[in-house]
Amino acid sequence: MSRFSVVQLIAVCAVLAIGPAIAGGNSDAGREKASQCVSCHGVEGEGVGENPPIAGQDPKDFVSVMRAYKTGEIEAPMMAMFVQGLSDEDIADLAAYYASLSREE
Ligand code: HEC
Repeated sequence: MSRFSVVQLIAVCAVLAIGPAIAGGNSDAGREKASQCVSCHGVEGEGVGENPPIAGQDPKDFVSVMRAYKTGEIEAPMMAMFVQGLSDEDIADLAAYYASLSREE
């Protein structure tokens, strides 16, 4: 019985560790890629001046808004310039990274 719970515990830990990977992004990789975002969105994604905060954003919303900037569905000249150079993987990594930051209001 006790042995069984250890196995369960390990299984839970494995799922927690794999969880973010299933979501598609790697937040450590995202942190590196975020260096090009800090001038406008802040070191912690808190937003600078008129640039909106992006910390704590749901990864799904993050990915869909970034895709919309890329396709031009949402017109935002500042963002359009930056998303062109980002692959889907970059966007997923950035989404995971910013989702891991907490938003302070
Ligand atoms: C030159 C300044 C600038 C840079 C650099 C920049 N952004 Fe932005 N970003 C903006 C502005 C301005 C907006 C608001 C655009 C709008 O009006 O929809 C925005 C909006 C966003 C949004 C949507 C926020 C929301 O709540 O709708 C996300 C997500 C985002 N940026 C992510 C990023 C990421 C990731 C990077 C780095 C790869 C980045 N931005 C780099 C200026 C910038």
